Amino acid sequence: MSQITEIAPDVFKITTFISEENIQFNQFLVRDEEPLLYHTGMKGLFPTVKEAVGKLIDPTTIRWIGFSHFEADECGALREWQKIASDATAICSIVSKMVSVDDVVAERPARALEDGEVFVTGRFRFKFLQTPHVPHAWDAGHLFEENSGTLLCSDLFHQNGDGESVTNSDIVSRFKEMLIEYQKGPFANYLPFTTKTEQILSRLADLKPKTIAPMHGSTYVGDGEYAIYDLAQAMKDVLAGSG
Ligand SMILES: [Fe+2]
Ligand SMILES: [Fe+2]
Repeated sequence: MSQITEIAPDVFKITTFISEENIQFNQFLVRDEEPLLYHTGMKGLFPTVKEAVGKLIDPTTIRWIGFSHFEADECGALREWQKIASDATAICSIVSKMVSVDDVVAERPARALEDGEVFVTGRFRFKFLQTPHVPHAWDAGHLFEENSGTLLCSDLFHQNGDGESVTNSDIVSRFKEMLIEYQKGPFANYLPFTTKTEQILSRLADLKPKTIAPMHGSTYVGDGEYAIYDLAQAMKDVLAGSG
């Protein structure tokens, strides 16, 4: 069973906690003239995510499916969604479309966004930022919803455990704990820290998000600019020089 929380008006977080892995997988549904689902989750999550979406809108009316980068928890169930929603189209970076998505997982060609492009679904306006290797993967990008100030931030701010849905408290310390824990095992160097990481993160901070919506863990409502600089410092502390 997935849990639904409205994190901003008509922006819903759908959370499934996988206890064996001690991790939440979050998808975000934006209810608008052209409904957008951000992250599909893996194929195995499709039935529960579809059921949750069905409590908010008719799942067959999903028009856009966005994600940061090509990975199972980002877009693994894209084809399953496209089979039930005949107009559903992936929206992603040019690199994602050309290098992986159209060939591997899409039922129909994706729409690629250029860096800085604004994409409108009705009342909501999304700015796309191309962010190679942030959080990770060459094709990574971020969508920022300008009206509500919501940053859909994928694996940035990843927190393990079954935390609260939304919080005003610091989430960076939990993110840092996750990084330290992952450095000790097979998930080491989950997020790279490169010569460009801080510059890319400061572009995200300049958006001054009011809501930070990660794929794993709690959504944070507060000073997003400060939180992103804090996150950059945590990444530097744990990851710089580690790989
Ligand atoms: Fe990822
Ligand atoms: Fe992820």
